[in-house]
Amino acid sequence: MFEDLQALARKTEDRRIEGLFAENPNRAEEFSLKAAGMLFDYSKTQADEQIRAALLNLASARGVETRRTAMFTGEPINETEGRAVLHTALRNLSGSPVHVDGEDVMPEVLATLERMEALAEELRGASVTDVVNIGIGGSDLGPAMAYTALSPYAEGPRCHFVSNVDGADIADTLRGLDPETTMFIVASKTFTTIETMTNARTARAWLMDRGVEPETRFVALSSNKEEAAEWGIPEARVFGFGDWVGGRYSMWGPIGLSLMIAIGPKAFRAFLSGAEEMDRHFQSAQLHENMPVLLALIGIWHNQVLGHATRAVLPYDDRLARLPAYLQQLEMESNGKSVAMDGTPLPYNSGPVVWGEPGTNGQHAFYQLIHQGTRVIPCEFMVAAKGHEPELGHHHDLLLANCLAQSEALMRGRSLEDARETVAGKFEGAELERQARHRVFPGNRPSTTLIYGQLTPETLGKIVALYEHRVFVEGVILGINSFDQWGVELGKELASSLGPVVTGERSAEDKDGSTRQLIEFASLYRD
Ligand code: F6P
Repeated sequence: MFEDLQALARKTEDRRIEGLFAENPNRAEEFSLKAAGMLFDYSKTQADEQIRAALLNLASARGVETRRTAMFTGEPINETEGRAVLHTALRNLSGSPVHVDGEDVMPEVLATLERMEALAEELRGASVTDVVNIGIGGSDLGPAMAYTALSPYAEGPRCHFVSNVDGADIADTLRGLDPETTMFIVASKTFTTIETMTNARTARAWLMDRGVEPETRFVALSSNKEEAAEWGIPEARVFGFGDWVGGRYSMWGPIGLSLMIAIGPKAFRAFLSGAEEMDRHFQSAQLHENMPVLLALIGIWHNQVLGHATRAVLPYDDRLARLPAYLQQLEMESNGKSVAMDGTPLPYNSGPVVWGEPGTNGQHAFYQLIHQGTRVIPCEFMVAAKGHEPELGHHHDLLLANCLAQSEALMRGRSLEDARETVAGKFEGAELERQARHRVFPGNRPSTTLIYGQLTPETLGKIVALYEHRVFVEGVILGINSFDQWGVELGKELASSLGPVVTGERSAEDKDGSTRQLIEFASLYRD
């Protein structure tokens, strides 16, 4: 299957994307998809009908539909951990039964949602001015990203997100906060993550030093209710979730509490219902009309078939500034694996390196390389049709124009002939030629664009669910387990063994020369 695609790639190597538009006046429409009120345009890529058909065949042959049903029906598709994968249950607002090991999890999910809503209302109505979410990875990136994204809807207490074990993070956050009016949310699925527990202990000490009883100011979000109870956090303020919710898929449930407190339960439900709408689309649409499937297939085409190792996510939506970081965890922790589900080595590349920044800022920084560098970087643009600042409509017009200009420029490029014209009159002879060459853009660089009405809670839910399902489809096609993360373990183990070496309690003699040298240098500065 991949061989067929590789053969197609060779056959179409010299093809210009612009030429595809010239050949087919309906290309834009035929290589786009509307779903859940959004338009996904993948016409500015090299994909033609044959390539798309081969990609869709690949998706069918790899069992995307069967696997999709298995996920939604609670089969243990996270095979290395023997767990179901049911973050979709957290946004199943209809409450239709979802079974794990024969038990319907929905009553518990909805009861937890209602308890969260009651607490959110209570805190929004109380004298709480600040909420500090202490968590890392999936227990931080989701709510932190969404809090920024939905700032026009935030009318509750201010939220802060502390994740890094670097004391700078919590120190800078606590500076200026009032212990009497600050609530701490300890967000950790396992409740054992060293960064989170260290920060939580520091927060507890900060309260105690200021004469505030910590028990009254802590909330816990965790699957590990026992550990949370050990912390003395009252049961009413402990919110649990099943082991069938992966960390990077968890913001739809208790891990989203800080967001709910900020935007209110109603807007939070809208966020869930947006995701639920995307779930329904993903479940019911045929593969060729399925937005997450097409987004995944274009990704496979660029990465595994054409070999473009990275993918830029470029939101022309300043409030989505943290989305690239969020997607880095979602995609790279999910699909950054070298072995297939059965443990055999992958015969192709694993998921891509994902990176990005909001436009237009990136244009004045790294777009130079995207336009004229030697590597091709497929770009994923996203933009709202309208902003939240009607009085600044001209800003939005410029934003949209810039987004569209970039995908057009990437596709068209600028020939040497045209480049010569831009410098004619300024230079002559060999100097004109030299100057012109610096102004050539190869063009033919692929991009996709996702356009949506406005970045509302509902829209954000749709976008995130779209990407979650995209990662799932890519994982199924690659035959890997997208739901474990063994690759983070070794570093954690070594960090805990190096702790006493750094403090000098244990000798560094069994460490390599580089590590010993670095420790020695650091020790010169230890008090
Ligand atoms: O180390 C990786 C990881 O396990 C992520 O998968 C997870 O989102 C993060 O750490 C935080 O884990 P926890 O929520 O258990 O503190």
